[in-house]
Amino acid sequence: MSLSDKVVIVTGASSGIGAAIAEVLAREGAQVALVGRNVSNLEATQATLQQKYKGIKTLNVVADVTKEADLIVQQTLKKFGRIDVLVNNAGILASGPLADLDIVEFDAVLNTNLRAVVLLTKAVLPHLVKTKGAVVNVSSCAGLRPFANALIYGVSKAALDQFTKIVALELAPQGVRVNSVNPGFVQTNIHSRIGIKDEAYKTLLDRAINSHPLGRVGDVFEVAEAVAFLASSKASFTTGALFPIDGGKHNLTPR
Ligand SMILES: NC(=O)c1ccc[n+]([C@@H]2O[C@H](COP(=O)([O-])OP(=O)(O)OC[C@H]3O[C@@H](n4cnc5c(N)ncnc54)[C@H](OP(=O)(O)O)[C@@H]3O)[C@@H](O)[C@H]2O)c1
Repeated sequence: MSLSDKVVIVTGASSGIGAAIAEVLAREGAQVALVGRNVSNLEATQATLQQKYKGIKTLNVVADVTKEADLIVQQTLKKFGRIDVLVNNAGILASGPLADLDIVEFDAVLNTNLRAVVLLTKAVLPHLVKTKGAVVNVSSCAGLRPFANALIYGVSKAALDQFTKIVALELAPQGVRVNSVNPGFVQTNIHSRIGIKDEAYKTLLDRAINSHPLGRVGDVFEVAEAVAFLASSKASFTTGALFPIDGGKHNLTPR
C-alpha cells in the first residue's frame, strides 16, 4: 500500500483501535512509533508487531499526549530521522447530559481529544512538510451527528472534524494531506475505562448492534484498514475528508 519504510507515529497504540492501526501499518511495511502511557500494554503491542512482521522497526514512546508533544517528536526523530505520517488516535470517552456536566471531565476530554491533537500536529508539522506526509485523525460518528447524552465527547469530536478540514486546507499547498476516520461503536476498553461494565455494557452493546444499519458493531481492524488507506499514496488525491466507518450510522436522523 506504498507505506514501505514510511515513519509513522500512532498515539494510543497501547490499546484497542490504536494497537490495530499499528499492526496494519507494520504489515504494510511502515516503521512505527508507538505512543501511550501504559508501558506493559505498549510492550504487548510491540511484541505482537515484532512476532508477526519480522524485521519491523518499532519504537515505544511512553508519553502523555496532553503534555509531551515535543518528547514524542524528538524520540521519533532520534530513532528514525524523519516523520511521514501522524495518526492522532489517543482519545477518551465521556457520557451524560448537560445537567450533570462535570467541568473537570469536560476539560480532560477536550484536552485529550482536541487540544493534544492540535499541539502534536503543530509539533510534527515541519517534519511532515519535509516529507509531504499525511495526518489521519481518529474521530467518531459522534463528530458527524448528534447523540443525546454524548455532549462532551460529541463536542470534542465535532471540533476535531473541523480541525481536520481547516488544517487540510492550510496544508494542501505544501502537499500534506489531513483526513479523519469516524468510527461507530467498536468493542475496546474505551467503555470500561469510564465504568461501563457487565450488565450496563451488555445493554449498551445490544443497543449499538441495533442502531447500526449493518446490524452489528465494528471491528478494530475495519478502522485500521481505513487509516492505512488514508495514510498511503492510494489516497493521494484525498484531503479534508471525514471517512465514516460506522455501518451506515452517520446517515440516520437523530431521534
Ligand atoms: N471504541 C469505539 O467505539 C470508538 C468509536 C469511535 C471513535 N473511537 C475513537 O478511537 C480512538 C481509540 O479509542 P479505543 O476505542 O481504541 O479506546 P481504548 O482501547 O480505551 O484506547 C485508548 C488509547 O488512547 C490512549 N490514551 C488516552 N489518553 C492518553 C493520553 N493522555 N496520553 C497518551 N495516550 C492516551 C490510551 O493509552 P494508555 O492506556 O497507554 O494511556 C489507549 O492506548 C479514540 O480517539 C476514540 O475516541 C472509538
